[in-house]
Amino acid sequence: MGTLDGKIAIVTGAGGGVGHGISLAFAKEGASVVVIDIDGEAARGTLGAIEAVGASGLALTVDIRDSAAVDAAVAAVVERYGTVDILVNNAQAARVGVPLAEVTDEDLDLAFGTGPRASFSFMRACYPYLKDGYGRVINLRSASELMGMVGYAAYVSAKGAIAALTRSAAREWGKDGITVNCIAPFVLTPAADAHFKAHPDDYQGIVATLSIPRAGDAESDVGRTAVFLAGPDASYLTGTTMSVDGGGAFYA
Ligand SMILES: NC(=O)c1ccc[n+]([C@@H]2O[C@H](COP(=O)([O-])OP(=O)(O)OC[C@H]3O[C@@H](n4cnc5c(N)ncnc54)[C@H](O)[C@@H]3O)[C@@H](O)[C@H]2O)c1
Repeated sequence: MGTLDGKIAIVTGAGGGVGHGISLAFAKEGASVVVIDIDGEAARGTLGAIEAVGASGLALTVDIRDSAAVDAAVAAVVERYGTVDILVNNAQAARVGVPLAEVTDEDLDLAFGTGPRASFSFMRACYPYLKDGYGRVINLRSASELMGMVGYAAYVSAKGAIAALTRSAAREWGKDGITVNCIAPFVLTPAADAHFKAHPDDYQGIVATLSIPRAGDAESDVGRTAVFLAGPDASYLTGTTMSVDGGGAFYA
């Protein structure tokens, strides 16, 4: 028996990193997981890992900046499974290391299109199904948004918009039985790893500020927190941020 037995979960950006870890944690708790990524091969890789632990799912190649493609993806999930119970808006792309005054319109379109706009599109498309019996939304936020981060203005601004969207949805959708929360992680995903390999002092600098001086694990740290937020024990918890970053940022 798993905490999420019979539940249908969509995880965006699940081809790698945090989304891969959340997908596996959900699968091990009995959920069917819809793996969405712009990189179809990566999405199919995560689906293979899900099937390897005895669970089932679906891999969909979607550019989540396109709201018509998001609507079509959600329709395909409903066609296959009949509903959506859990939505994790995890995908986020951004060009970083750019001085604020040099951020282009394309940079803004990328950060906001994959972040708050895509989260909005998925939440809107999934709403009729989320309110139909069981509803959990988990959005991915970042501690960089509390502190600011040099060279990350587009990314940090997009994450701030996701936090605001989360609070608005938590207010509106509680009466529908839908909880909406955020996770703010610190995980050495391939993208983060590449950055830190190029800037090793950044990594040591960040770890030195943590109460628990190590990077988190996508599945055993972030994924298990997502299982809790997605599960039945978190039915009275909404509008919050779980900071899964070893004590890097305190939201309270
Ligand atoms: N890794 C960290 O330490 C950290 C820290 C703070 C916040 N976060 C947040 O956690 C989430 C996951 O981060 P990560 O490090 O695993 O990221 P990642 O870059 O490793 O993975 C992101 C995934 O999103 C997919 N993606 C990108 N653009 C897409 C598009 N247009 N359509 C569909 N899929 C697309 C990528 O192919 C990739 O598989 C993000 O929201 C990120 O902002 C991560």
